[in-house]
Amino acid sequence: MLRAKIVSTGSFLPSRVLTNEDLSCMVDTSNEWIMDRTGISERRLADPDKAASDLAYEASKRALKDAGIKASELSMIIVATISGDMPLPATACLLQKRLNAKNACAFDINAACSGFIYALSISDAFIRSGMHKNILVVGAEILSRFTDWQDRSTCVIFGDGAGAAVLVPHSGKSGILSTHLYSDGNLWDLIQIPAGGSLKPASDETVKGRMHYIKMRGNETFKVAVKTLGNLVEDTLRANNLLPSQLDLLIPHQANNRIIQAVASRLGISMDKVMVNINKYGNTSAASVPIALDEAVRSDRISKGSHILLEAFGGGLTWASALIRW
Ligand code: ACO
Repeated sequence: MLRAKIVSTGSFLPSRVLTNEDLSCMVDTSNEWIMDRTGISERRLADPDKAASDLAYEASKRALKDAGIKASELSMIIVATISGDMPLPATACLLQKRLNAKNACAFDINAACSGFIYALSISDAFIRSGMHKNILVVGAEILSRFTDWQDRSTCVIFGDGAGAAVLVPHSGKSGILSTHLYSDGNLWDLIQIPAGGSLKPASDETVKGRMHYIKMRGNETFKVAVKTLGNLVEDTLRANNLLPSQLDLLIPHQANNRIIQAVASRLGISMDKVMVNINKYGNTSAASVPIALDEAVRSDRISKGSHILLEAFGGGLTWASALIRW
């Protein structure tokens, strides 16, 4: 049976570090509060002259090099982002130009933090249908440009970064076994950037009202996330006739360490089988899962035949999972 297989991964984190101590000089917060409530110790910030496509380019170069695939051999590029270079054109087209991937079609998707898994699912469907062969999937974010540095309830959470994966058709036992995508538009207003779109185009009023920044009803989001992700992981394992004990590695979206621990505990998965790097990078939205996946691959936490489960939850609301046999 034909399915998509991830043959390589790559990631890129800007070198500039913003610590909790730095933040406590900017807003009324403390290292203790941030560590206790989120598990985040520091996050990375892109240089002012960089855009999401620059981070995507660095992560993609690494993934393509390890895959041994030339950019000209790609037939599709998907970038998952909520902080693309500009509303038009797609960041994926800017990435295509940088890579000189002249034989690919390129487009962005917006499913917030679930975006990378949505893009994996789209790629898997195109590969299974035989319509596409080599696909580059990227999650890239510069959330620091959409963060209100006067709002302590959000500015302590987000960070910048990018992660990428190259997918090819595979007819053996390994590859993406299943993907599961969900959304609930009724809860759209829990996480939003209110202005800058057709509803409220940029104006003096939107700028004065700080409406171009991420607004989040964190506590409500937290409660929905814990419940939804627990069900999602259970359903994904059940769909593949696997028990939680048969999972080799859970790679969750790095939104909040308390959410990650609550989901693992509900399923009886010990934390040594859970990939956690939120302490170093914060929440990088669509980039978080591919960055964590790349770190897991490069630190030998995944080996041939491993069952790994990716899961994410974010604005929309959206949530998604992928079960992979490596
Ligand atoms: N420092 C100190 N105090 C703070 C801070 C801060 N940085 N931020 C908020 N507080 C205060 C609040 O004002 C409040 O004070 P009060 O009790 O006097 O009113 C108190 O801390 C508790 O606030 P809560 O919002 O209830 O704190 P909570 O424990 O829920 O933690 C957090 C907040 C970290 C945002 C958490 O709710 C969370 O992680 N939510 C989920 C986020 C998420 O998963 N988002 C999805 C992906 S993001 C995307 O899609 C782009």
